[in-house]
Amino acid sequence: MTVLDAAPALPRLSTAMREGSRAEHEAAEGSLFMSELLAGRISPAGYAAYLRRLRVVYAALEGAVRRQASDPVVAAVADPALERLAALDADLAHWAPGTDPAAPLDAVDSPAAHAYADRITAAEAWGGLLAAHHYTRYLGDLSGGQAIGRLLDREFSLDGAGTAFYAFPGIPKPKPYKDAYRARLDALGLGEAEVDRIVGEVKAAFGLNQALFAELGEQVERLRR
Ligand code: HEM
Repeated sequence: MTVLDAAPALPRLSTAMREGSRAEHEAAEGSLFMSELLAGRISPAGYAAYLRRLRVVYAALEGAVRRQASDPVVAAVADPALERLAALDADLAHWAPGTDPAAPLDAVDSPAAHAYADRITAAEAWGGLLAAHHYTRYLGDLSGGQAIGRLLDREFSLDGAGTAFYAFPGIPKPKPYKDAYRARLDALGLGEAEVDRIVGEVKAAFGLNQALFAELGEQVERLRR
């Protein structure tokens, strides 16, 4: 046996994150609110209710990432070009004119969004946990999110208005960007226990998104147009 044979293969973090959350991803895709939204059956007020929740989540995520910027795992993924808060404010101004962008986030009536934000804040305990939340939101926004943005644009005849959330002006080509993002995660050379912990947090993040959709799903009758 050579030395090379004896070395345990390092798990590829990015593959583990994707493979480990496949079932959770499928569940999120099938949520009632998402299907109704993509079928064009949600009202502007209903979509604003979704955006307000995302605002709570991204405020927590982007604050945490800035605070932990010197952590090596966070540094591997952090990029101001990803930040979504300003885009969410611009979209809220379109879907719910008169929304005060400075209104306190606590006032958003959504146990699911606040539970998600709390979990992100707790993830500041280790950069790997925070990176799990970063990956779940931003790689999703750069993947399926792009198709969701195009569908919304078509269903509501928006001509680009109100969909800033899905536009990344600093990232003209999502595919090579996502490949480089995954390569940076893999280059960290994390061990199996760390990879497992990160994958567990990715699953938890998907669950929190699912809970957010479920909360909106419960109100779907009054969020329809
Ligand atoms: C990747 C669709 C919801 C997180 C993808 C990809 C598609 C997709 C097609 C693969 C893109 C590629 O190969 O580059 C959808 C659709 C959704 C949805 C249609 C809802 C209707 C979500 C949600 C989340 C999410 C709710 C989590 C918040 C992700 C992540 C990836 C991804 C993290 C990247 C996987 C990886 O390459 O590592 N999505 N998605 N998606 N999605 Fe979704």
